Order: sequence, then structure tokens, then C-alpha cells
Amino acid sequence: MTGGARLIGTPVDRVDGRRKVTGAAQYSAEVMVPNLAHAVLVGSTVPSGRVVGIDTTAAEEAPGVALVLTHRNRGPLGPLPMGLKDLVAGGTVAESRPPLADTPIRYFGQYVAMVVAETLEQARYAASLVRLEYAPAPFAVVMEDAPGPAYRPGSTSGEDLQVRRGDPDAALASADVRLDATYRTPSEHASAMEPHAAVAWWSGDTLTVYDATQWVLGDRAVLALAFGLPPEKVRVLAPFVGGMFGSKAETGAHVILTALAARRLGRPVKTVLTRQQVFTNVGHRPETEQRFEFGARRDGRLVAMRHHARTHTAIDDEYVEAVNFTSRMLYACPNYEATHELVRVNAMKPTWMRAPGETPGTFALESAMDEFAYALRMDPIDLRRRNDPEANPHTGKPFSSKHLLACYERGGARFGWARRTPAPRSMRDGDTLVGWGVATATYPGYLMGATVRVRLERENSGVRATVLTAGSEIGTGMYTMLALMAAEGLGLPIERVTVELGDSDLPRCALAGGSNLTASTAPAAAASCADIRRQLLNLAFALPDALPLARGGIDDYQFANGRISHPAAPSRAIGYADLLASSGRPSLEAEASTAPIFGQNDRYSFQSFGAHFVEVRITPDIGRTRVSRVVSVFDVGRVLNAKAARSQFIGGIVFGIGQALLEELVYDRAHGYPVNADLAGYLVPVHADVPDIDVSWIDEPDLNFNSVGCRGLGEIGITGVAAAIANAVYHATGVRIRDLPITPDKLLQSQIRH
Ligand code: MOS
Repeated sequence: MTGGARLIGTPVDRVDGRRKVTGAAQYSAEVMVPNLAHAVLVGSTVPSGRVVGIDTTAAEEAPGVALVLTHRNRGPLGPLPMGLKDLVAGGTVAESRPPLADTPIRYFGQYVAMVVAETLEQARYAASLVRLEYAPAPFAVVMEDAPGPAYRPGSTSGEDLQVRRGDPDAALASADVRLDATYRTPSEHASAMEPHAAVAWWSGDTLTVYDATQWVLGDRAVLALAFGLPPEKVRVLAPFVGGMFGSKAETGAHVILTALAARRLGRPVKTVLTRQQVFTNVGHRPETEQRFEFGARRDGRLVAMRHHARTHTAIDDEYVEAVNFTSRMLYACPNYEATHELVRVNAMKPTWMRAPGETPGTFALESAMDEFAYALRMDPIDLRRRNDPEANPHTGKPFSSKHLLACYERGGARFGWARRTPAPRSMRDGDTLVGWGVATATYPGYLMGATVRVRLERENSGVRATVLTAGSEIGTGMYTMLALMAAEGLGLPIERVTVELGDSDLPRCALAGGSNLTASTAPAAAASCADIRRQLLNLAFALPDALPLARGGIDDYQFANGRISHPAAPSRAIGYADLLASSGRPSLEAEASTAPIFGQNDRYSFQSFGAHFVEVRITPDIGRTRVSRVVSVFDVGRVLNAKAARSQFIGGIVFGIGQALLEELVYDRAHGYPVNADLAGYLVPVHADVPDIDVSWIDEPDLNFNSVGCRGLGEIGITGVAAAIANAVYHATGVRIRDLPITPDKLLQSQIRH
């Protein structure tokens, strides 16, 4: 036993909270070093075509300008890795075309020059003096305009995208009840508060970069290849990241160009993307169009499902929003077919955003299930219960730990679902239309692998533990989670633990993505702490007459408040500091690693689940939808920090409200640029849009997944939310909105007043 105050599963305050609210936490754009020069990137003002003239004379002669880089003087770069091959140390660029490589233009905003000057203002002014001439070419920025042809991608993340089991055509033809409906979601953008930013400098042939990244080792790999260096010669730091939601995993062109300019000038260079550049030069979630065909028996048992998806990708690069990863596994359906096709548009390559695949996938699937429940005259929860599989229908493997129906039961009780009257428009409150909807949340259990080192050393009269790993703190609570794991694992007050993260010189750790980092690092931290407990006990055994019942099993001892004791003689506890002192050792150290798991192993399928219950209130005269209540219950294995988990779930649900009602990156189809590329135009929920949100979880550890039993919970919160809202909107109005976001104009066009 470790003894002491039990921290795991309790609400623990952020150990970095004070640093964040006082401004002491430093983000990449804030890094100041002596002799720093400032870079501004110039973007193309056409979405397609070619640069036929570029005149940098005026920019070069402007005050303070140190360097103007274009495709003519950029110089060589090494090969840039593209795609996810190694999620710990591999790295990938955001687009395969190297920055400032040549003259073709693929999308609006594509970098055509970089201007570096003494001050940001000088760089910005000089950037405005770079003269460009383009030969424009035809383009499309939305799927509907894309000239095609669409093509079928093979696989993504090692998973086939075209899937078939059974005989869906025959099963559909013979079904008692059928549904055929098509859903659309628009381009969306992560739109994190912190802009993408990099600061780089060279000391001889060693490169140091501060980058707002969720993957310091990925950056290191990309930069090492780009500059022909061994990885040890590159150090990437990201101690704090101000939001990313997927958009800071791939290494952006600006990071490479910042390092290039710093080498050319022999001084540090900083680049901070403008808010507009964040929207045009960082990937977005692509548009999706999803057609579902369902067939079922009269009793609601699904016999056939077809899911045809079309999403967009970039002109040169492939990104797949894998919407069918959910439909293939969520319901027991013997006859299933999924197809996926891509069309190319003139936009930056799309990228991961907030449960990529699952978010638009669950919107369409869970909306279709709701429509089908009405067609079958069934309660939507009953329909889900009737089709709930115990084994993953796609892989055939049993789920390691699944409690979805318990989530529905508990959520239904907390929400009061039994009081719902199913008929649309039947729950008015005066002139206000009230609707209740449900939907399932789901996200796979990923563990990409990490090494965590724990060090215990003397500090003043006591000890201090330090936990070290390269993973980034992306705002989700990694510092706190590892601090509480070490405090619990070593039997120390949490104030006695320091956590160091976001530094490529630290032990190897996977990217902070795919909701995996806690699942990857917590078991490694726990194992390192167990190792140190063993080392401490051995030191104690080495002391003459120190502990009673010497050489008992380690589990017989208590490790609490920095002391080892035995329950038989609690007064004879020995402090860790004394053990270190008497052994003459300055510190003890241990390191442990976890091996990757991607949603399954030989025996199990690893998947998290949840149930959302939503109430909307709609003002029919103006078509305004307010989400007035949300109750969500999750099944994510063991929760380590109840406070951070609650915040994370709520954050995901707020994202879901944004997806359902507000978020859409709107392109000007005549000129090819996003017109709402700023924080005023790209709408996300504000406090007034968010009701009280009731989140809870089924606290069942998944010990088949890892030794701690936690599956990770970063992304599951958003999945299913938009469907639950759309389903509630239907219940309130009798109008089914199949294309997001659900804006007042769409509701008013549907005559919801009558
Ligand atoms: Mo997340 S969208 O996997 O960074």
C-alpha cells in the first residue's frame, strides 16, 4: 500500500494555475531573448495560379529590415516528413510542399515571402511593400464547386476507409423499415486562443526553438531533417500551449522558416501568425457530406447500414476526416457498408480537430438514429439499447470495458427523461418551443507510448520529487495529473512534486493528441514511483535495526507523508530524507515506459462511451435556439483528477454547442478566401450560450487497457453533442436540420412558427 491521502479520482487544483493567472507561465509568442528579430509572413492574395512577378526592393530598403526571403533566395532544405509513422518521435509537416519552394499557388494565404526586421512594426510595414504579380487560375474552395473527380482514398492511420460486411444491399431491400438521409457539416477551425508562434536561435550547429506545439519531438524530427542535423542538435520547447485542439500537432511552415531565417541572420527570430493567418495557413476540419441508409426489422433491430461519405482535402495533400470509424462499430448490424471519397479544394490541407472523424461522424450517425427512432415509433434510447453490441462489430473483439447503457440509465434519471412526451412540439412553455434530445458519445482508447522519469532528492529538511517527460501540456492538466500521480505513488504532499514537460530533451513521449497522453504517461509515472518505493525500502532494510519485520513484502509497508512505516509499529517511521542522507545518495531515480495501443490489442477493443441529454428552448418568431440544459454521463475508465476531467468534459460539450449552432468557416466562393477569419467572425460559444452542464462518469477502471485503468478523455466530450442538440431541435419544432450549424435562418425557412 502507498498510504497517505488518496488523490486519484478526487478534484485536485491545477498546480500551474497560479502561474497561468498571474502571467508567469510563458507561451511561445511571449519568449523574449536578446537581439531578437521579428518576422512577418506574406501570403498570396489569390487562391490558385502562379506568382509571375515578385519585387522585394522596397521591402529590403525599408527601415530595420534584415532579410526578405522568397522562393528565389530561400536556399536548400532537407526532405520534410509527411504523415504519421511514429507517434513518439516521428514528426510530420502540415503540408508536403516545402515553404517558399516555387511559384504555384494552391490556396489563399499561401506564404510567398517572409520579411525579418528589428521590430515587429518594421517587419509588418516592410511586408506590405513586397510587390507580387499573379497569373490567377480557376479554383474551388467548397466541395460543391470542386470540379472533381472525387477519388477513394485507401486508408488512414492504417485503417481501411472502404468497409463492407455481410450483404447490405439484400438486407436493405428486405428490411421492414428504411431510412435514407444526408447530413452536412461545414469547414470548421480549431481557432485556439494562442496563435501559432515560434522563436528560434542557433548556437553553432545547435538549434533551439520555442514552438506552440502539441508535439516537441515531432517538431524536433522535422527540423532535424530540414536542416540536416542529428536530432540531438535540435531542442524544441513548449512548456505551455494555449489551446490547439489538433491544430498544433503538425509542424507548420512558419516554424521551419523561422529557424531558417535565424540561421541566415545569425540571431534569434520570432514569428507569430496573425489571427487571419491562423485561419488560412493552419489546417481546419474539412466539410463533410454523409448519406446514411438504414434498414431494420419492425422491432427496431438494425439489419443494414450504408454510410457514404464525401469530405474535402487539399490540392496536393491528402487528409481524411474519418467519419465512418464510428458507424462501423457503434451498433450491432450484420450488414454494413462504408465508402469514403475525397474531393480537392483550394485550401490549406485540413487537419485534426476536436475528435477528428468522430465529431462529424457522430453528428450524422446519431441524428440518423433519432430519425429512425421516430420512423419506428420507438424511444431513441430503446433503439440504441436494442442495437448495443458487446463486441466491436468491426473487429469482432469484445470491448475491454463498456458501460454505455449505464450512462443512459444514469443520465436519464438525472435529466428526467421519463417525463418526455415524444411527439414533436409537445413540450411548449408558453410561446417557447421546448425539445429534449439524446445522442451517444464515443471515442477510441489510444495509448501512443511514453517514458516517464521520476527523481527523488533531498530539499531542505525533506524531499522533492520531480517528474519528467517530453509531452506537452496543452491546457488539459498534464502538470497536475502527473503531480498527483507522483504524490500518490510516492506518498508525498503534492506541493513536494515538480513536473517538467514540453522539452524535447526530456524522456520520449508521444504527441499530445488522440486523447492519449494521460493513458500513456500515468501508468509510466505509477511504475516509476513503485520502483522508487522499492529503492527506498531497500535503503531502509540496509539500515541496522531500522524497521520492524524487516524484509516483509513491499505491500506490507506504508509510504505516506515522506515516510515509510509498518502498521505494526507506526511510531518507528523513517523519513525519505533520512534514508537518502544515511545512504549518502543525493537522489533516487527511476524510469518506466508504456507500449502503444491503438484502439485494440490481441484480445480487446478499447473504446470510451457516453450519453448526452440536451434540452433546447426555441423562440419561434426569431428562430433562436438556446441550449438550456445538458446532462452527460461518460464511461472513460478511471478518472484521475475529477476537477480537470469535469472541466475537460464541459469544454468538449461547449465545443459541441459551437459545432451545432455557431461554427462555420465561410469561404467567399468568388475570391477564394475565408471571410470570417478572425475571432469576431468565427463564432464560438460565449458564456451566455452555455447553460449549467451536469457531467458525471461511471468510475470503472479499464485495467485491460493499462495498469491505472484510464482510457483518456480529452476528446469524447464533443462527440454526439451536435446530434443531441439537432435531435432536441427536431423534438421542439418538428423540423429536422441536417446541415450544421443550426442557424436561425434555417429554422425560419422551415416555418417553425406553425
Ligand atoms: Mo487531437 S484533435 O487528436 O489533437
